[in-house]
Amino acid sequence: MLPPLGATKDDLDTPALCIDLDAMEANVRLAVETCRRHGVAWRPHAKCHKSPAIARKLVEAGAIGVTCAKLGEAEVFGEAGVRDLLIANLVVGPHKVRRLVELRRKADPIVCIDHIEQAEPIARAMAEAGLELRVIIEVDIGLNRVGVACGEPAVRLARQAAELPGLTLAGVMGYEGHLLTVPDPQEKARRIREALNRLVAMRGALEQAGLPCEIVSCGGTGAFFHSVTQPGITELQAGGLIFSDAFYRNVCQVPEFQFALTVLTTVVSRPAPDRAIIDAGRKTLNPELHKPLVAGRDDITVEQLSAEHGKLRLAPSAEDVRIGDRLELVPGYGDLTTVLHDRFYAFRAGRLEAVWPLEARGRLQ
Ligand SMILES: Cc1ncc(COP(=O)(O)O)c(C=O)c1O
Repeated sequence: MLPPLGATKDDLDTPALCIDLDAMEANVRLAVETCRRHGVAWRPHAKCHKSPAIARKLVEAGAIGVTCAKLGEAEVFGEAGVRDLLIANLVVGPHKVRRLVELRRKADPIVCIDHIEQAEPIARAMAEAGLELRVIIEVDIGLNRVGVACGEPAVRLARQAAELPGLTLAGVMGYEGHLLTVPDPQEKARRIREALNRLVAMRGALEQAGLPCEIVSCGGTGAFFHSVTQPGITELQAGGLIFSDAFYRNVCQVPEFQFALTVLTTVVSRPAPDRAIIDAGRKTLNPELHKPLVAGRDDITVEQLSAEHGKLRLAPSAEDVRIGDRLELVPGYGDLTTVLHDRFYAFRAGRLEAVWPLEARGRLQ
């Protein structure tokens, strides 16, 4: 049974995924104000929250829409009334093309292409339905994941796509994800600048070829303050900043955003003076990119997570931790942790203000 609004964390069973609304809203304000100051639009990636309620809050706060990774997620956000949806991915196969046509009837999505073979079946289906879909050329700016090569190959693809009835060429995108963790700040800034210069140069190349390029999109939380100041970028996809986490703060070195997400846990065993076990393991917290932190307790560290047990190492000052005590953990990487949960419990000043299901969770198709 869900706790009533106004409940405290003591009223919650554990483990429970909690949002600190004041911290989240401060993060959102910082992102919106920084983007505004630099004349860049913000289309935050929804992969960290997968919640239409949060997406609507972000749009109310100034986001222009949502970025998502999957067509299934875009369907959920489209159903919830978000019209401007960037699916930052390739959409391939007849099932998905049919669904994309239906989504286009309700919303105004943008889909990535990096080869004309992705574009042709989508164009045919849109034209047959009397619809136009925006496509964006995804270029490889060094991530070596998807993306057509910058320069002439990208211009050629854009020209081919622009000639297809049923498609509208919206612009270009690239993701600087390979540079988020460069340890030296100056080298990081330089390499991001080089990569984004290549992306921005695509606008000039397309316009020179007589092609439109309204959107130049990039940006992750780990590069937020670099990409937002890059001349020529029109919109940013950074989304994880609404919660921040240990990976963004400690590895990407982005301390400006506050920790707004925690997992509330219970100590279930105290097998040794320096060891406590909590009811949260890998099925509750993903430790892949960074181990979780124990909020407000520098004297307690996460030593190991098995499936359903979390092993904590206690410094002498923490040896008074007892069975039944509650501890809050800041996720190592929020993105891969939130999707392990059914709902967010959103608190303000210690009182439950909202419960938000992750409705787009599991929408992997
Ligand atoms: C295409 C794309 N854009 C943006 C991001 C950045 O998202 P976030 O700000 O949540 O780290 C990612 C992260 O994986 C991504 O794959």
